[in-house]
Amino acid sequence: MNRDSLNRILDLARWAPSGDNTQPWRFEVVDDHHIRVHGFDTRDHVLYDYDGHPSHIAHGALLETLRIAASGAGLKTTWTVASQGEHRNPIYDVKLVSDPALVPDPLVDCIETRTVQRRPMKTTALTPAQRQALMAAAGDSFSLQIFETPGERRQVAGLLWDSARIRLTCPEAFPVHKAVIEWKARFSKDRIPEQAVGVDPATARLMQWVMQSWGRVEFFNRYLLGTVAPRIQLDLLPGLRCAAHVLVRPKHPPTKLEDWIDLGMAVQRIWLTATHCGLYLQPQMTPVIFRWYARAGRRFSTAPQMGEQALAVTANSSKLLMPRRATILDSSPGWVSHRCPTAAHSGWTFLS
Ligand SMILES: Cc1cc2nc3c(=O)[nH]c(=O)nc-3n(C[C@H](O)[C@H](O)[C@H](O)COP(=O)(O)O)c2cc1C
Repeated sequence: MNRDSLNRILDLARWAPSGDNTQPWRFEVVDDHHIRVHGFDTRDHVLYDYDGHPSHIAHGALLETLRIAASGAGLKTTWTVASQGEHRNPIYDVKLVSDPALVPDPLVDCIETRTVQRRPMKTTALTPAQRQALMAAAGDSFSLQIFETPGERRQVAGLLWDSARIRLTCPEAFPVHKAVIEWKARFSKDRIPEQAVGVDPATARLMQWVMQSWGRVEFFNRYLLGTVAPRIQLDLLPGLRCAAHVLVRPKHPPTKLEDWIDLGMAVQRIWLTATHCGLYLQPQMTPVIFRWYARAGRRFSTAPQMGEQALAVTANSSKLLMPRRATILDSSPGWVSHRCPTAAHSGWTFLS
């Protein structure tokens, strides 16, 4: 393999998703068959990067994307990880070996077309084939819990609504939101472009103005019901108007770094499979993250009501985890690690 092929693989790999588009990795090309990925996390300044786990999930998504991309060039991928302590800077050594018998992964064409869909979508029911494909993509270590009926979707939308209140009123989340949106942009190199946020242009202008300072946000929230418009647009309507919510559940609670990486690999396979099936998807990790804080008894905000609200989100998400339907593959009270709430039938365009 020559350097051009390697560059093409890396070019595809960098399309991997990461929380808030932080891309917590840097590539080092050791030689044409060896890439060293220097992982990092953002736990010191991003409220959502709980113990770096969302970044570890992103590392997994990156490794899976690398594997799929390399398969398109007839290369088999193996990797090892070296990491210590709190896993702040894991180093992944990825080796690429030519394998004439290797069949290119059918998901390779979806790497660049995968999107985050944060707007309301069609409610056309998932077909049995789509449901089956998503479940198969999760692999043996994970099960999928799918919420499809209007009642189930209402319940999930309610959870997202409550979780969004924390997100929008938590002072510690404000600097994260302020830094992450690239206003008036359709594309962004390292942030979330305005057009992907999921609000209409008028709300975007208002948000941009309000988000200049925490004082403005507090004033709006307190006197002008400031969280209502974004919560309706970003959480309630997309939560109700979708085909299904999909919850990825590890069969065993993740404990080691490798468990989080596996989870990220599964998430990316499910996401690319959704794209392959003509579905759109939005990951929603914030309810899960607030649940992590609440269950660990960890305070994440100086605002006193945040802890109570996180406990309420935790109680409501626990209700959702109860098995109710035949489609639930694994009913063990596993640990929620990722929520992928919106999937829609094909044909829906989401950028205005
Ligand atoms: C671990 C992880 C958690 C994420 N959590 C959320 C989330 O809670 N809400 C959301 O809208 N997007 C979430 N995303 C999507 C990212 O914001 C998105 O992947 C990133 O901005 C890059 O955009 P792209 O996927 O379109 O390339 C998450 C992605 C990952 C990998």
